[in-house]
Amino acid sequence: MNKIFPENLNILITGGAGFIGSNAVEALLDNNELTVMDNLRNVDDRFIKQFMGRKNFHFKKLDITRMSDFSGLKTFDLILHLAANSDVRGGSGDPETDFNINALGTFNVLEFMRKTDTKRIMFASSSTVYGEASVLPTPENYGPYLPISSYGASKMAGEGFISAYSHYYGITGAIFRFANIVGKNSTHGVIFDFINKLRKNSHELEILGDGSQRKSYLHVNDCIGSMFHVNSILRKTDVFNLGNHETTSVLKIADFVIREMGLKNVEKKLTGGPEGRGWKGDVKLAQLSIDKISSTGWKNMYGSDQSVEIAVKEALAQIGPN
Ligand SMILES: NC(=O)c1ccc[n+]([C@@H]2O[C@H](COP(=O)([O-])OP(=O)(O)OC[C@H]3O[C@@H](n4cnc5c(N)ncnc54)[C@H](O)[C@@H]3O)[C@@H](O)[C@H]2O)c1
Repeated sequence: MNKIFPENLNILITGGAGFIGSNAVEALLDNNELTVMDNLRNVDDRFIKQFMGRKNFHFKKLDITRMSDFSGLKTFDLILHLAANSDVRGGSGDPETDFNINALGTFNVLEFMRKTDTKRIMFASSSTVYGEASVLPTPENYGPYLPISSYGASKMAGEGFISAYSHYYGITGAIFRFANIVGKNSTHGVIFDFINKLRKNSHELEILGDGSQRKSYLHVNDCIGSMFHVNSILRKTDVFNLGNHETTSVLKIADFVIREMGLKNVEKKLTGGPEGRGWKGDVKLAQLSIDKISSTGWKNMYGSDQSVEIAVKEALAQIGPN
């Protein structure tokens, strides 16, 4: 397999203060010049503070929804575009935020690329673009896309603009449709939610939906490794699912968390929800085909259940059981 992480590149990471971004900074900082652009809207600087003194690390508290915020930045060799409204659940009450940050924000990143002649982008899209796919595991060429959340719709818009800018301006885009990513520095998602609820009340766990929702989970180290593996071999704009073939149910995740916290006799309260979904816009069964990335020689270190188990341990080590 190729050496996957780039060296001696000048890289912009939008959303680099967040969960996946801060892990990417850790993987790239030793051998590259990194600029993180993050308005710290979803998380403060707790995960990147440790890098602040390094001479090849530059933090810019800037907002991708404002084109003027890009004005002080120059050409980059590569942009890892991760900044987004990652609150999928909030969409039905506030679809405009998804549009502004995820669609308009991505458009602004591309405009910045056009103006500065920056030629390469890696984009964090999502399995939510598929909506409730009738083909499972869902391959990249599945269609038509009918997302059921404004988050999914806004990621679809981002993908479309990357494709158009590739054609117009010779940009190369690696578009990644992530499954659920878990691991160190996560501040949202089901594991984080369960741990927080159980820290407040160790006798009862509220589970959104009917608990049977099943999704594929991927550890953040595999996510970052596979993104850069693709980047190292990609010659023209293309789309890759990143995930695991297997899925893990929400109830199983609840059991992992309860066991790892050393709790017993926890009453699980299922909220039911619309059609058993966790919330309006929640896809009940998300399973990605990873045949395409596998055919390039990539193999994840961890399967779905194992990714969740490791991430539960990592989250507890980071936020503590009480
Ligand atoms: N974590 C997952 O399971 C998952 C799944 C599918 C897709 N993704 C995508 O991967 C990317 C990273 O996700 P994450 O889980 O690390 O989320 P995160 O919320 O931890 O990170 C996103 C970062 O973007 C920043 N940001 C938000 N709006 C901004 C703006 N207007 N200007 C500048 N910065 C802004 C936030 O402050 C945050 O640091 C996102 O694009 C997300 O949609 C994540």
